Amino acid sequence: MSDTRDAALKEIATLNDSAAQPQSQNGAERFHYPSQEVVEHANVTAYMKAKGFNAFDELYAWSIQNPQEFWSDQAKELEWFEPWEEVLDESTAPFYKWFVGAKTNIVHNAIDRHARTWRRNKLALIWEGEDGSHRTYSYHTLDREVSKIASVLKSMGVQKGDIVTIYLPRIPELMLCMLACAKIGAAHSVVYGGFSVEALADRMDDAKSKLLITADGGFMRNKVIELKKIADEAMARTPTIQSCIVVKRTGHDVNMESGRDLWLHDLMALPIASPNCPTEPMDAEDMLFILYTSGTTGRPKGVVHTHGGYMVGAYTTLKFVFDIKEEDRWWCAADPGWITGHSYIVYSPLLAGATSFMYEGAPNYPYPDRWWQLVSRHAISILYTAPTAIRGLMRFGEAWPNRHDLSNLRLLGSVGEPINPEAWRWYHHVIGKDRCPIMDTWWQTETGHFMITPTPVTPLKPGSATRPFFGIEVDVVHEDGSSCDANEDGLLVIKRPWPGMMRTILNDPERYVSTYWDKEPVNMYTVGDSARKDEDGYIWVIGRLDDVIKVSGYRLGTAEVESALVSHQSVAEAAAIGLPHDIKGSAIHAFVILREGFEGSPKLEEELRAHVGHELGPIARPDAINFVSTLPKTRSGKIMRRVLKAQALGQDVGDISTLES
Ligand code: WTA
Repeated sequence: MSDTRDAALKEIATLNDSAAQPQSQNGAERFHYPSQEVVEHANVTAYMKAKGFNAFDELYAWSIQNPQEFWSDQAKELEWFEPWEEVLDESTAPFYKWFVGAKTNIVHNAIDRHARTWRRNKLALIWEGEDGSHRTYSYHTLDREVSKIASVLKSMGVQKGDIVTIYLPRIPELMLCMLACAKIGAAHSVVYGGFSVEALADRMDDAKSKLLITADGGFMRNKVIELKKIADEAMARTPTIQSCIVVKRTGHDVNMESGRDLWLHDLMALPIASPNCPTEPMDAEDMLFILYTSGTTGRPKGVVHTHGGYMVGAYTTLKFVFDIKEEDRWWCAADPGWITGHSYIVYSPLLAGATSFMYEGAPNYPYPDRWWQLVSRHAISILYTAPTAIRGLMRFGEAWPNRHDLSNLRLLGSVGEPINPEAWRWYHHVIGKDRCPIMDTWWQTETGHFMITPTPVTPLKPGSATRPFFGIEVDVVHEDGSSCDANEDGLLVIKRPWPGMMRTILNDPERYVSTYWDKEPVNMYTVGDSARKDEDGYIWVIGRLDDVIKVSGYRLGTAEVESALVSHQSVAEAAAIGLPHDIKGSAIHAFVILREGFEGSPKLEEELRAHVGHELGPIARPDAINFVSTLPKTRSGKIMRRVLKAQALGQDVGDISTLES
């Protein structure tokens, strides 16, 4: 560590603004070193010293040689009803098991154990609505509210192992309902509130949910999103749903179907809503939640996560990467409906006994300084967001953030897609005042927690997620599994199991094996991203290799957009691609072949865009639709999106020898 610090001090002495230096082609850019103060106070430094190491690299090397010891060290900081017999069972690979034989419940560690100490009076959650209203929950109140909802769910017949679908806006009830499910051993399947009818129906159907929890609506830019209307349409398409709990948020009139729909506040007023619901002991490998995510083909995959390993991974990564301390105010500005929210709004901050902040609305509503006002008003010390949000706010200029006191900030974070160095520098300089290191965390729905990420002591290079986390080994390889040279593009792979890894795809274990573990005999987890590793071992993620499009950091599959388009009466065939977009990262462009009797027009284009919005959700609405008479296809009939993309960008279409002639 002292080597790093010496180097840092030397570097800082000679450079006033290394951030202004252009990025070199191969990523061998000058490092940004953390300050001595940051290094000295970091949780990771304390751990390094406790383990008797003098340098971060030594600690990392040890964690790779002894991953089970590293992870069990971490697991011991949490409480277990029964200890594990084995940290990792590889005998059923790639269906790995972690903390075999142990019993716990993530809610016991996230709430119960804090609620019986002085932390019962500490704030767990501060929430601000778009209209400026506030709600706060101490660990004690959180415990009571979660217990009450859990008791209600139980008395409605929800059992251990059931999957409850939750479709809510960004309000505290989203978090409370997730925790209530976990408390009684039911799994939750949260569907992002920006999704719509078909997306919700498909997910409820695949999970065979009997219960849906939704709201009368949500607010976004002072407009009401009619969630209950969408849910009604989706429930009509899903035969398994028997009941629906509705949270009152907007107070607008909604249809309540008798015998099926019940208001949460009515249920919470009944004696069945007991504030003392016992937390169900779960096997470490029992399912905690499923979260659907888009893949290359077909319907979204229900990614399965567990109580034990996921808990340890989420807790450990937040502690070391975002350096959570008792006095921090943590704001992960994602939506709880995506994995970032599951792991870093709901579970890990509570596991760490931290105070989290959640905001309901849009970053620039009513003015472009809303976020900076929130940072200042709530004394946020750590802010974790996505490049798309940074780019979006950057375009309004520095004056907006400069109006606010951002001096409580000490760490910043980024996730979702590669952060372009320009956005990185703005974030670092304008928001972090050149003092807050940026944790660019690479991970996925499937990985459960951070995989490639700096810690506060890591020298940074803008645009790189730096190096793998403790116990995680990654590589960039050729198709045959052999390692690429430095700075050579290849496939990003993970070379050993980790505790928060997905366990399977719900109802489709074969797809789990064929999607992620097809690199036999090398047996590596294939991520689906292309990347390169520079001469310092820093990873530069380039982007998805499959047909997944990241729109504003949200993960969407071309297949989903195409099937939404084809469900319109005028469309015979459709292809969707992602094209570069300044703010969103990628924007969806669709190519459509119409059925006989229909003709392309601006009116039909608008109708189709609205149709996709209605079926899938506003985030999936294509920016543009082109009416075409043919689509480039392989001889086996597969649409060559690569060719469409190259044509749209005016690039060389490359090898089209397999194109249908
Ligand atoms: C991309 C989001 C570069 C990547 C947590 C990955 C990133 C996909 C980064 C997973 C990052 C995520 N730098 N790319 N820091 N973080 N990605 O499942 O392509 O929504 O495979 O999980 O996002 O998206 P998902």
